[in-house]
Amino acid sequence: MNPVPHPRALDGKVVVVTGAARGQGAAEAAALAREGAQVIATDLEPVGGCRRLDVTSEKDWAELAAELREAYGHVHGLVNNAGITWRARVGEVRPDDMARVHAVNVTGPLLGIQHLMPLMPPGSSIVNVGSSAALTAHYPVAYTTSKWALRGLSKTAALELGPRGIRVNTIHPGYIETEMTASASPAFRETNIRETPLGRTGTVEEVAPLVVFLLSDRSSFITGAEIPVDGGLTAHGGVKSVSDALRPAGPG
Ligand code: NAI
Repeated sequence: MNPVPHPRALDGKVVVVTGAARGQGAAEAAALAREGAQVIATDLEPVGGCRRLDVTSEKDWAELAAELREAYGHVHGLVNNAGITWRARVGEVRPDDMARVHAVNVTGPLLGIQHLMPLMPPGSSIVNVGSSAALTAHYPVAYTTSKWALRGLSKTAALELGPRGIRVNTIHPGYIETEMTASASPAFRETNIRETPLGRTGTVEEVAPLVVFLLSDRSSFITGAEIPVDGGLTAHGGVKSVSDALRPAGPG
């Protein structure tokens, strides 16, 4: 007897992913497609099967929305994943760098929501990619303030879109091995591992399943939520070093 095929979590859903040429976005696009979604992967350049979309461009979003309306008539999911960092501290950061980072990390997701929400039927889902920086005093101030602002956008959008049956949630990755983190100093990686209860960095494959879950109907009563995927980094509020210093030495 043939086994009954297991229904996939995203069969029949049309989903847009931003910043999908590499890193977490690429892994998320692949995982969503494996679960049956029709994925529109987008990025700054049309590489790796991506459609070109600069998240800061209203024109790009308007064109994408018109295309999707024509091709499918609706969109069930949006993953606002594209993001940039800028590692200047409070004393040095310049207003134009603040504006540039906020344009990609905050205005980009806002534009995505504004342009795609008219195409979203009840049951649709939006995932914003925040950061452990959105829960802490991470030193690159432009990045940190942008991700805190994204939390505010997510909460407001969840409230606004709830009556239309559209959910909006935020994930907060910790240190994930991608080109973004590879561009930081080795000390950044080492200290993150030291502060992470699971004692290691994360992979893009460990973030993507959470995005699949939040886009699927399996999370149908979850909205306005924020879920860290960070090995426990933000859970201890900075006291891991205290616990580690006082832990009795024992076997193993
Ligand atoms: P990445 O730098 O490897 O990939 C980011 C992608 O976004 C690139 O393909 C880039 O071309 C694209 N992008 C940049 N500006 C864009 C724009 N204006 N329009 C469209 N696409 C644009 O970074 P990664 O690590 O994959 O980051 C993905 C998301 O996860 C970002 O929002 C980032 O802030 C966030 N994040 C990353 C963490 C990490 O440890 N890697 C930790 C916490 C959050």
